[in-house]
Amino acid sequence: MKIWLDGELRDADGARVSVFDHGLTVGDGVFETLKAERGRAFALTRHLERLAHSARGLGLPAPDLDEVRRGCTAVLEANPMALGRLRITYTGGVSPLGSDRGEAGPTLVIAVSEAGRRPDTTAAVTVPWTRNERGALAGLKTTSYGENVVALARARERGASEALFANTVGALCEGTGSNVFVVLDGELHTPPLASGCLAGITRALTVAWAGAKETDLPLDALESAEEIFLTSTLRDVQAVTRIDGRQLADEPGPVTAEAMRIFDRESAADFDPR
Ligand SMILES: Cc1ncc(COP(=O)(O)O)c(C=O)c1O
Repeated sequence: MKIWLDGELRDADGARVSVFDHGLTVGDGVFETLKAERGRAFALTRHLERLAHSARGLGLPAPDLDEVRRGCTAVLEANPMALGRLRITYTGGVSPLGSDRGEAGPTLVIAVSEAGRRPDTTAAVTVPWTRNERGALAGLKTTSYGENVVALARARERGASEALFANTVGALCEGTGSNVFVVLDGELHTPPLASGCLAGITRALTVAWAGAKETDLPLDALESAEEIFLTSTLRDVQAVTRIDGRQLADEPGPVTAEAMRIFDRESAADFDPR
């Protein structure tokens, strides 16, 4: 396995990041996960824009997006696979042991691992912890993902693959690594970015391609929704057929099935949708 580290391709086994890297010590970093199909990264331009946005929000120096593009290409060429999870990690770099960032400059790592195609349906649970829509990191894809680790472990304990959060005012927000859509009275809705959710790329494409209203919804909309689905880079559009103790259906409902079809068609037609 080859990875990209600080400007060049290296053997993953030999590649080393300092134990004083601020990404490791305090979670001072941002990242992107991309879907790589047969050596091509889907929606690369949008992911690079979001990486730059997250870096700006965290106060990191602007990433060199030409280098990131070069690194993605090199890593995908060096590790051929049918379906991969391509991961870009960009951190504050070597720093003192505290929250102050050091002067050494950022660390950039690009790696890929094999992925399997997700099932069309899954189960999700709600969790009692909140997303902070007013927090300094709201809307940024940072490596401070401890809250997501805990919530996803709760979901796994309950036989589900995703945990859904409300925000601090009890509005439906997002999952640990996905956005959420609900069908109410036959209409498709997803929480607005003001709910504190990440501006998911799959979410934005699904809103544009399948048409969905961005609506403030209470968490308990999940109890009355006719259909629920998740969107993310590696899930695309995935139906939720069980939420907490409630079984919805065995198969994706009609609105979800249509969104899946549209997403498959449009994403195949344009690998780098702007
Ligand atoms: C917290 C969170 N919300 C939503 C998403 C979905 O975003 P995307 O569709 O860009 O993968 C992710 C990323 O995977 C995420 O980490």
